[in-house]
Amino acid sequence: HAASMSTSFPKHFLSTDQLNAEQFQGLLDTAAAFKKAKINTDLLVGETLLMIFQKRSTRTRISTEIGMQRLGGRALFLSSDDIQLGVNESLKDSAHVMSRFGSALLARVYGHSSVMELAKEASVPVINALSDKYHPLQALADYLTIQEHFGSAKGLTMCWVGDGNNVLHDYMLAAPLVGANIRIATPDGYGPAPDVVVKAQKLAKAAGTSVFLTSDPVEAVKGANVIATDTWVSMGQEEESKKRVDDFDGYQVTNKMLEHAASDHIFLHCLPRHKEEVDDEVFYGKRSKVWDEAENRMWTVMAVLAKLLEKK
Ligand code: CP
Ligand code: NVA
Repeated sequence: HAASMSTSFPKHFLSTDQLNAEQFQGLLDTAAAFKKAKINTDLLVGETLLMIFQKRSTRTRISTEIGMQRLGGRALFLSSDDIQLGVNESLKDSAHVMSRFGSALLARVYGHSSVMELAKEASVPVINALSDKYHPLQALADYLTIQEHFGSAKGLTMCWVGDGNNVLHDYMLAAPLVGANIRIATPDGYGPAPDVVVKAQKLAKAAGTSVFLTSDPVEAVKGANVIATDTWVSMGQEEESKKRVDDFDGYQVTNKMLEHAASDHIFLHCLPRHKEEVDDEVFYGKRSKVWDEAENRMWTVMAVLAKLLEKK
C-alpha cells in the first residue's frame, strides 16, 4: 500500500518491525552494492559512532568498527566495564552526554527497555546491536545471504529450529517483508514472544505469506529452503544452561533432520555456535553459508550507518 511505502526512514534502528518492505529491501540493496564495490569511501568523514557494549561480541563489534572505517568515519568501542553506564550514571544522562559527542550510538544491552530508553533520550540515532528481545542487524545479514544465494527470498520458506529468542524475532518479522514463509519449531515454553508472533502474523497476512509454529523440528523443516538456528543459551541465561540443554533435547540440527528440507536448502547460524544446536556435519557442510552470513554483517551494518547518517 502506497501510504506505508512512502513512510520516512525511522530515526533509530531498533527492531525489524519499524521498517516496511521497501525500507528493508533498500538496506539489502545498498549492502549488496557496497559489497560488490568492496567500498571504501569518505561518505561519513567526520562522523563518529559511539558503541556501547554491555555484553561480549566478536562479529557485531568488528563488523561495525571496520564498516565505519570503510565509510570514512570512526567508531569508539565503549565497554560497560569502562564507562559510567547504568552503574554510576543513569542511561538517560549517558544518552544526553553521548549525543553531544557522537553522531550516533550503537548499543548491545541486556533488557530491550535499555536500548528503547537510549533512543528516547538521545538526540542522535541509536542502533540496537542486540538486546534480549531483538537483533535486527543479524536479520539484515541473514536475508542478504539468502538473496545472494537464491537471487531473491520471494516465495521461499524460512525455517527456525531452536530457541524463540532475539535472533528469531527479527528473522520472523523480516520474512513477510521479503515475501517469504516461515516455519518455526521451539520446545514448549521456549516459543517466540507472543507480541512478536502477532506482529509477524499481521505482516504475513498483508504480504500473502505464512507463519507456522510447532514444537516438532521435523515438521518445521519440511520443504524449507533456509534452516537457521542459534545457541540454546543466550548471553544472560548462563544460569539456566543445564535445564535448557535438557529441554532442547531433539532439537540439534543434523543431516538426518534436514532430509526433510528442500533439496536446495542452505543452513544459517548467527554465531557463536555450539555443537548442541547443530552438529559438525551440517555446520561445516557444503550447504552451510555461515561464513558468508558473518561477512555480511559488515556490509549490512554499513548500509544502516549510511542510511541513518547520510547528510540530509
Ligand atoms: N552474531 C553476532 O551478533 O555475533 P557477536 O555476538 O559475536 O557480535
Ligand atoms: N541469542 C544470542 C545471540 C548472540 C549473537 C544471544 O543473545 O546471546
